[in-house]
Amino acid sequence: MYRSHTCGELRIENLGQEVTLAGWVQKVRNLGAMTFADIRDRYGITQFVIDENSPEEVRRTAADIGREYVLQVKGKVVERASKNPKIPTGDIEIAVTSLRVLNPSEVPPFTIEDQSDGGDELRMKYRYLDLRRNPVKEAMILRHKLAQGVRRYLDGEGFLEIETPVLIKSTPEGARDFIVPSRMNPGEFYAMPQSPQTFKQLLMVAGYDRYFQIVKCFRDEDLRADRQPEFTQIDCEMAFVEREDVIRTFEGMMKHLFAETLGVTFDGPFPRMSWHEAMERYGSDKPDIRFGMELNDITTLAQGKGFGVFDSAEYVGAICVPGGAAYTRKQIDELTEFVKRPQIGAKGLVWVRIENTGNIKSSVDKFYTPDALTAWAERCGAQGGDLLLVISGGRMGSLSALCELRLELGGRLGLRDRSVFRPLWVVDFPLLEWDEESGRFYAMHHPFTSPLPEDAHLLDSDPARARANAYDFVVNGVEIGGGSIRIHDSALQARLFSVLGFSDEEARAQFGFLMDAFKYGAPPHGGVAFGFDRLCSLFGGADSIRDYIAFPKNNSGRDVMIDAPSPVAQAQLDELYLTSNPSAKE
Ligand code: AMO
Repeated sequence: MYRSHTCGELRIENLGQEVTLAGWVQKVRNLGAMTFADIRDRYGITQFVIDENSPEEVRRTAADIGREYVLQVKGKVVERASKNPKIPTGDIEIAVTSLRVLNPSEVPPFTIEDQSDGGDELRMKYRYLDLRRNPVKEAMILRHKLAQGVRRYLDGEGFLEIETPVLIKSTPEGARDFIVPSRMNPGEFYAMPQSPQTFKQLLMVAGYDRYFQIVKCFRDEDLRADRQPEFTQIDCEMAFVEREDVIRTFEGMMKHLFAETLGVTFDGPFPRMSWHEAMERYGSDKPDIRFGMELNDITTLAQGKGFGVFDSAEYVGAICVPGGAAYTRKQIDELTEFVKRPQIGAKGLVWVRIENTGNIKSSVDKFYTPDALTAWAERCGAQGGDLLLVISGGRMGSLSALCELRLELGGRLGLRDRSVFRPLWVVDFPLLEWDEESGRFYAMHHPFTSPLPEDAHLLDSDPARARANAYDFVVNGVEIGGGSIRIHDSALQARLFSVLGFSDEEARAQFGFLMDAFKYGAPPHGGVAFGFDRLCSLFGGADSIRDYIAFPKNNSGRDVMIDAPSPVAQAQLDELYLTSNPSAKE
């Protein structure tokens, strides 16, 4: 046996025992006659000591050891003269009788400590060293606990875990696919699944009425803190259910995970908000409802007073910053720069100060009387000392810019407390989204989402108004999951494909297998998928999902540790009947 105990296990009760530990050297302190060192493994850290009473050979070996050496340490558990209350093993140390170097280590490119990571590039290049650090290890443990919690809960509810294929068929909907050439079928390609969507629906047709899978999904899209090209879903589907059944089941799972992992409980059901209301009040379909500062539509109040920018706008909206009247010119300029960033896209920011004296000052005093501005303040529920910030332009663009501004201010004002969780379901999304560029509708969720029963007739008369029988699970401004009740009727599915601009042939070529399956007794069904990486980072109190993935990709989609993607040999390309032409990018 390499070890009798882990490096996190020994306590004062173990005094006098002969033990063997194995692990990595955390730190060595050479104090002349005495050497103190720490040995670390996944479970913790233990101090060992070598002094003039230690065997000669042990002293010789100890002289050479350095950080990250792999050691086997044998010795007796003794009480420490100066105890370290910060670590669980801090009362004891090992008086070493035998020391074996199992493997030396080069000096690591950064020290393996909680606060030292050498910067993002370096820690990703040496991710196996980064993974030794406590904060990353804790993230992996949290991920494991959540995965086990999901499995236990869903198993208890009668769900079967069934795997679905990773080499599938490319479809034009959704994000860009990662594709894989087929050697055996020259000129043909598999796609990596963006989700197991069609397979889980086929499993419902097959009669497996409660399915789940913790599954890798692949999407070739631009990356952000909460997006990876390969990520993991908790993917679920149920047959013979309506929206309420799905929501109830997975609300149960979420409450279970919150309670079991974080000790957080909730009174009553999670709130629901329609997509329309979420957009109006928060400018987002994933509202952060931990704080107020909601959006106010002041279009009618602001128009017709001769201010061309507002008069020509489709929408004028304001948020009220409590206490914001005290903001300096510089602070307001900073916020103006913030909203003008290309990714936020506002043209500018109008401000209105409601001073404690009752006086009102604004950047548009030329156009608006104090009475007119007072009407804005009233609409926004502003009081003396508050500041209104106003953005105008196209409706969707302005809502989204106001949303970003609200989140930024919420952050600055300390209103986005990571230990507070405010989940909700966003429901009644539009079924379709019109795309100006291609002049066609796209499915807002995916083309298998059914309209609300009462809106189905709108597919013929006014498709843009049809609402989807869909739901998103949102916590603290993050879309954690989404799902819908599916279409299980082949005629309705064909109708939707046609609204989406597919000819019958195109629909057959893409989704013939599903339309065929629906001819053989498809039960009513629906489901949901949760972003598992996002769930982990939410529970861990982090913004980025990267630390919750053992081997993540960087923002250019690269794994800098294994250096992927990378060119392949011409012979490999030849075998696949492919030519590579990277210069075409220019
Ligand atoms: P959707 O596309 O909404 O639905 O995805 C479900 C959840 O997966 C997470 N997610 C991501 N996480 C990390 N990186 C990404 N690139 C990424 N993309 C999505 C989000 C999201 O809420 N098949 C449907 C679900 C269904 O209808 O049952 C689907 O995939 O948290």
